[in-house]
Amino acid sequence: MGQNSSQAARRSSTLSVNDARVVPVGTARLDEAWRVLRHLRPGLERRRLADALRRGGRAYRLGYRLRGLEVRGRLVALAGGRPLVTLARGPHLHIDDFVVVPAWRGRGAGRRLLEALEEHARKRGLAAVHLDSFLDALGFYEALGFTALPCRAVRKKLPPPPRAPRRGS
Ligand SMILES: CC(C)(COP(=O)(O)OP(=O)(O)OC[C@H]1O[C@@H](n2cnc3c(N)ncnc32)[C@H](O)[C@@H]1OP(=O)(O)O)[C@@H](O)C(=O)NCCC(=O)NCCS
Repeated sequence: MGQNSSQAARRSSTLSVNDARVVPVGTARLDEAWRVLRHLRPGLERRRLADALRRGGRAYRLGYRLRGLEVRGRLVALAGGRPLVTLARGPHLHIDDFVVVPAWRGRGAGRRLLEALEEHARKRGLAAVHLDSFLDALGFYEALGFTALPCRAVRKKLPPPPRAPRRGS
């Protein structure tokens, strides 16, 4: 561990989630958010996150928002999600990304951020929170009152759309 990171680790070990607050995260914090999110998604491209945070970006237009747990000006956890309304689930918050930086795991940061998201969603009239959990993280969600559903996420990747014909051809 380098001097800077060991100093940072010592500083963070004297702080607690009582020093934390939940904040919206936008393009002004792109690089910091990218560093945190890569603990969850190591292959995440910076430009994809930039597009999700930028007003007018595709994910942003579809309602994706990122919120962070900040301690003394530093992001220690992030959650990204969007409100959805479906026939099966009704109005709910779908969380796409949820991560706590390694130095802050097991200290109540995940609980603090998720409870804040639940409260925010409840105030907006959303009746539930849904997400796809890693098997390793299931116990965390269960500790917060979530129930595992008897369904599996499935996916099929699609080829890109056909190119529009050029004018005049
Ligand atoms: C999973 C994760 C978000 C939990 O955050 P955290 O800050 O470490 O969790 P907290 O300290 O707030 O723990 C809250 C409760 O959940 C429990 N818990 C936390 N992680 C757990 C796990 N992996 N398995 C079982 N229980 C867990 C804690 O014991 C605690 O219980 P208590 O409040 O009854 O004492 C965090 O470990 C993480 O970012 N992991 C890597 C990325 C990841 O898996 N993200 C989730 C993607 S679906």
